Amino acid sequence: MPSLSVFGAQWGDEGKGKLIDLLAQDADCVVRYQGGANAGHTVVVGGEKYVLHLVPSGILHPGKLNVVGGGVALDPAKLLEEIEGLRARGVAVDGQNLRVSANAHVIFEHHRLIDQCAERWRGEGRIGTTGRGIGPCYADKAARTGLRLCDLLDPALGKTRLRAALAEKNALLVQVHKEAPLDLESQLDRYSALAESLRPHVADTGKEIRAAYARGKRILFEGAQGAMLDIDAGTYPFVTSSNTGPNGIAAGAGFPPRQLDRIVGIAKAYCTRVGEGPFPSEQKNPIGDRIRVAGNEYGATTGRPRRCGWFDAVAVRYALETAGADSWIMTNLDVLTGFDEIRAAVRYRKDGVETRDWPAHASSVESYEPVFESKPGWTEDITGVRRYEDLPAAARAYVEWIEREVAAPIGMLSVGPDRAQVISRGLEPW
Ligand code: IMP
Repeated sequence: MPSLSVFGAQWGDEGKGKLIDLLAQDADCVVRYQGGANAGHTVVVGGEKYVLHLVPSGILHPGKLNVVGGGVALDPAKLLEEIEGLRARGVAVDGQNLRVSANAHVIFEHHRLIDQCAERWRGEGRIGTTGRGIGPCYADKAARTGLRLCDLLDPALGKTRLRAALAEKNALLVQVHKEAPLDLESQLDRYSALAESLRPHVADTGKEIRAAYARGKRILFEGAQGAMLDIDAGTYPFVTSSNTGPNGIAAGAGFPPRQLDRIVGIAKAYCTRVGEGPFPSEQKNPIGDRIRVAGNEYGATTGRPRRCGWFDAVAVRYALETAGADSWIMTNLDVLTGFDEIRAAVRYRKDGVETRDWPAHASSVESYEPVFESKPGWTEDITGVRRYEDLPAAARAYVEWIEREVAAPIGMLSVGPDRAQVISRGLEPW
C-alpha cells in the first residue's frame, strides 16, 4: 500500500514511536501532520534510545524523506535542538532529508507562557497540558493572529505580524496573568534567527508529498498523541488541540483524503493517560501502580507519571471505528506478564443500562462506570517470542478476547521496546 496512516487509538503513548520506526524501514517518506513538541516518540535502535519530539521517526533510517507538515505547531528552537542532538549522535539531518512546511504555525515564547498561565486560571478544570504552548498556538491559528514559518522568513511581514500579535498578548500577559511583557525587537530577532536556521529545510511540503505519491513512493503518516485526545472526537475539553488520527492528514499534510490507502491504529494491551480528564478503566490502586512500574509509564516529554488502568475496549473500538482503521497493533503485551488475572472494560454502565458505545457527549463520560471482565494471566517471559503460536496459551486467549471485543483485527503485537520485539499475525500494515 503506498500510503499508510498510523495513529494512537488511546490517550497517547501507545508505543507508536517504535512501530512507526519499524514501518519507516519500508517507507520512502515519513510525515508528521499535527501536534508539536508535546509528543515524545521513543525509539530504541540497537540498544540506543532516541526520543523524538518533532522530527519524524524516518530520520533514523538513511535515505528517507522526512516531513514536518503545515499542520504541526512548530517550536523552532525545539526543532533545531533536536536536529543538533541527532547530529551529535551521528544521525545525518540536512535540507534534503528533513523538510519543514513553510505554512507550519510557529510557537512563540508568549504561547508557552500563556499555556502555563491559562492552566492556573482553569483551577479544577485544568487540562494538565504539557505546557509547550501547543493550545495557544493553534488558538491563534484559528483566530488568524498566528505567524507561520514563511511569515518569519519575510522580515517586514514578520515584524508587522509579530507586532500586532504581541500588542494583544502583552496586554493579556500583563493585565490578566500579571506577567512581564515581552519585547518585540528581541522576540523578533530571536525567532527570525531561528527561522533563518531552518531555511534550508523549508519547502512546499504538501506538493512534495503529493508528487512522491504520484511517483509510487510509500508515504507513512505518523500520528502524535491519540484518538481520545483528538480535539473533535476525544474527551473534550481534556484533549490536545489538533486532529490526531487520519482525520488530521488531509489538512495537516496537504494530502488528498482519497489517496489514503491504509489506516492502522496502535493501542497498548492496557491503558494510560497523562494529564486530567476522563479515564474510565483507570486503576488508582496497587494494580495501576504495578502497571506503571512494569511498563515504565512516565512521560517521554514531561517525565510525568502516567495514570494507568486496564484495557478499555469501548474506547478503542470507538477510536478505530471513527478512524476507519483496517487493523490495529497491540503494544506492551509483555507488561502484563505476571498478573494472575487480566481485566478489560468491555462495556459501560449508566443508570443500570449497559452499552458498548462510547458516550456521544464527551462531558458525560464520567457519569458512566466501566463493566470489567477478566481472563487468566501468564507468567512466562514473552519478550523473546517472535511467532504468535509460541506465546503462552493464556496470552493468546487474552489477545483474541480483546480482538473480539474491539471488533477489529490485530495485525501485530509488540512485546518489548526494541524494533525486533514484534510478532506478526500475518496482517502487515503496508
Ligand atoms: P497539550 O497538547 O500540551 O495542550 O496537552 C493537552 C492534553 O494532551 C494533556 O492531557 C496532555 O497530557 C496530553 N498530551 C499531549 N501530548 C501528549 C502525548 O504525546 N502523549 C500523551 N498525552 C499527551
